[in-house]
Amino acid sequence: MTKNSKALDFLLTRRSHPSKTLKEPAPSLDDLNPILTAAMRSPDHGKLEPWRFIILQKNALLRLAKCASSRSVELDLGVEAQKKVEFFFSNPPLSVAVVSSPKESEKIPMIEQTLSAGAVCLALVNAALASGWGASWLTGWTATDRPFLTNQLSLKKHEFVAGYIHLGSKSFQPPERPRPDFKSKTSIFSD
Ligand SMILES: Cc1cc2nc3c(=O)[nH]c(=O)nc-3n(C[C@H](O)[C@H](O)[C@H](O)COP(=O)(O)O)c2cc1C
Repeated sequence: MTKNSKALDFLLTRRSHPSKTLKEPAPSLDDLNPILTAAMRSPDHGKLEPWRFIILQKNALLRLAKCASSRSVELDLGVEAQKKVEFFFSNPPLSVAVVSSPKESEKIPMIEQTLSAGAVCLALVNAALASGWGASWLTGWTATDRPFLTNQLSLKKHEFVAGYIHLGSKSFQPPERPRPDFKSKTSIFSD
């Protein structure tokens, strides 16, 4: 057995970076290449690849901020939610929408395909952090609002956004947040 201490240390200390702390510059397409390649190296039962990416660069994010703002008025979500969704899209230097895109399959249930999209989200965050970028996995109502998904992101009816992975340069190291003790989350069946 060969221990990869660096990888383990990374996993034991990794922290997401809140969106408001992400600054320019954003990762370039060249920077994203190994990050998205690593993200796709995620468990995927039946090799269906039930996910895809949409890279949202700054101008697209600013457009989405306006559209989401109008949609929040349509949905009567209130002024606070309107400001929140405007900030959600206008703040990050770049975002990658990980689209859950399940395939027809008699063998692989939908839930497993959705879990695979979630695995891709975490792998993307971790690959970005390991590359030195700040990253955060976020959702909110625009991840599942059908009119927003269809009209603004051109998603098909069976697709939704498993995560918007906001990316940018780090402006500070977030403090540790409390983590559960593994014993409180673990049962042992020994026979
Ligand atoms: C599916 C999913 C959606 C999330 N959406 C949000 C969100 O919309 N807003 C938010 O502040 N955190 C959201 N989070 C939490 C953050 O991604 C992150 O887990 C949290 O900030 C703690 O970060 P860390 O444990 O990676 O350091 C979401 C997490 C998951 C798994």
